[in-house]
Amino acid sequence: MSENPAGVGSLITIRRLPADRWQDFRKIRLEALETEPYAFLSSSTDEEKFPETTWRERIVNHIFALNGSEVIGMIGLIFRSREKQKHIADIFSFYVRREFRDRGIGNLLLIEAINFISSSGGISKIELSVVSDQKAAIKVYEKNGFRHAGILAREMFVNGHFHDEILMEKLL
Ligand SMILES: CC(C)(COP(=O)(O)OP(=O)(O)OC[C@H]1O[C@@H](n2cnc3c(N)ncnc32)[C@H](O)[C@@H]1OP(=O)(O)O)[C@@H](O)C(=O)NCCC(=O)NCCS
Repeated sequence: MSENPAGVGSLITIRRLPADRWQDFRKIRLEALETEPYAFLSSSTDEEKFPETTWRERIVNHIFALNGSEVIGMIGLIFRSREKQKHIADIFSFYVRREFRDRGIGNLLLIEAINFISSSGGISKIELSVVSDQKAAIKVYEKNGFRHAGILAREMFVNGHFHDEILMEKLL
């Protein structure tokens, strides 16, 4: 867990949440999918019908930013299980509530995820993909040592337009 003041009167903590806070996780995940339709491949329609058990399973793979007890941001990470790719971890589900942006909270979440992955042992690469329009996300990834590894053209179709996806990787 790490702590950082992020504005007058607020103390931001970066930490895991227990499975019984799955409703907080569901709330911010659906908010992210609804308010940022161009940032994520999933839509809220895809996920709003997930049962409680799915949220309880998925919360384990996330690190959260809290303002007091309010969840205001998150980042997901997962370790690949296939024998030939066990050295790779993936980052996804990166989101900070709009009114808390540009205060370094996204950076703190990403650093915490990288540190956790690095200290887990046996991981030599982190991968992620980001829609090319998400300039703030790309900036945070680049600042933390991710390099561009390729582009998938027309990976997403939203509101009548195609969007490209940038693949990024960081060697540990
Ligand atoms: C990506 C995101 C999580 C970053 O959270 P955050 O708390 O604002 O991140 P930080 O404050 O640590 O850093 C944001 C950086 O982006 C920069 N930035 C903001 N808007 C920008 C823009 N339009 N173009 C370029 N850079 C921009 C900020 O200046 C800051 O860089 P700096 O610290 O060098 O000044 C947040 O913007 C978000 O939720 N975006 C929508 C969802 C998304 O795109 N997720 C990524 C999916 S892969």
